[in-house]
Amino acid sequence: MPDDKKIVEKTLRELGADSPEKITSLFTDAHERFHRDLVVHTDEHSYRELYYFWLGRKSGAISLITDNWLKPAPPELRRIVGQELNKLKAYVEATLEERRKQIEATVEEVAQARERIDLSLPGIERPIGTRHLIRQTSEELQRIFLSIGFSVVQGPEIETPYYNFEALNIPEHHPARDNMDTFYIEGAKNHDVLRTHTSPMQIRTMEKQAPPVRIVVPGKVYRRDNPDATHGYMFHQIEGLAVDTDITFCDFKGTVEYFVRAFLGPKVKTRLRPSYFPFTEPSAEVDASCHVCGGSGCRICKQSGWIELFGAGMVNPAVYGFVNYDPERLSGFAFGMGVDRFAMMKYGLSELPVLFQNDVRFLKQFP
Ligand code: DAH
Repeated sequence: MPDDKKIVEKTLRELGADSPEKITSLFTDAHERFHRDLVVHTDEHSYRELYYFWLGRKSGAISLITDNWLKPAPPELRRIVGQELNKLKAYVEATLEERRKQIEATVEEVAQARERIDLSLPGIERPIGTRHLIRQTSEELQRIFLSIGFSVVQGPEIETPYYNFEALNIPEHHPARDNMDTFYIEGAKNHDVLRTHTSPMQIRTMEKQAPPVRIVVPGKVYRRDNPDATHGYMFHQIEGLAVDTDITFCDFKGTVEYFVRAFLGPKVKTRLRPSYFPFTEPSAEVDASCHVCGGSGCRICKQSGWIELFGAGMVNPAVYGFVNYDPERLSGFAFGMGVDRFAMMKYGLSELPVLFQNDVRFLKQFP
């Protein structure tokens, strides 16, 4: 293309164009030349080249024609040169503008085609997870207690022996520490432990809060147990504590019965057996009549008609001494239940490990 500019770099005189006819013919040539350019410069990139060749401000063909043909033209030819130049300029401008729009539309079309979503293709199905059976069970238990005025609090899984034992009335050499095979944290300043139960939150809550207290505490607990079908080194509990000025054993029993029926069904009966925990006095084991056989005896209840549910009792007044509660004025009850055990019982699982092996074939059964 550049070579061809030579013609517009010359003056009319140099080109020998000394009559209107010759001038018209020069412009006709220019039109033709423009058309030839237009045919070969069709894409986005060569459009720019084309544009600068014809309309570039300094050395575009139209500017050169203005400078070299029009300005020095003798007065008698200036009019015709001006007219022809205006026609050419208007035509080139309009045509190039049209071309620019076309190119932009094509670019847009190509981009759209590339990004177009084919709705007829099958989608990518991503599996949506579900809440784990233990979480489902824990939340179910929490809901029951929430519905009767308890609130949910959570506490640390690494505890000091003070909260895990002493303040719960389990002194250092108390035999009750024996059956809690504890994980001690190596090198920890205060001989910190992985909490063996959720009961420490009884203490932490009463330290912080004046009575009345009505809380449940869901969470993980740890014991140095040898793993087998029903034991692991980690399991889940829900602790409960209610303390107020007028809580009696009747409130304790009524709450426990309400809970058992809400969880296992309206026909299930409750039984309390004497037990021992250092932080409750009196202490009890709560049993429920077997929800599977109704109490006549089956595999699930080992033919006894009863299933042991959880430990509980009236808060031992000694515990109030550790949190500055007045044992003369206050009374309450507490309980601690194993969520994993409840899940096994309610859903008929015979083995604990299936809960932690994360086999989707198992997990999918509890959407
Ligand atoms: N902390 C006991 C345990 O893990 C369970 C327990 C029993 C909690 C009686 C209580 C309770 O709050 O009153 O074995």
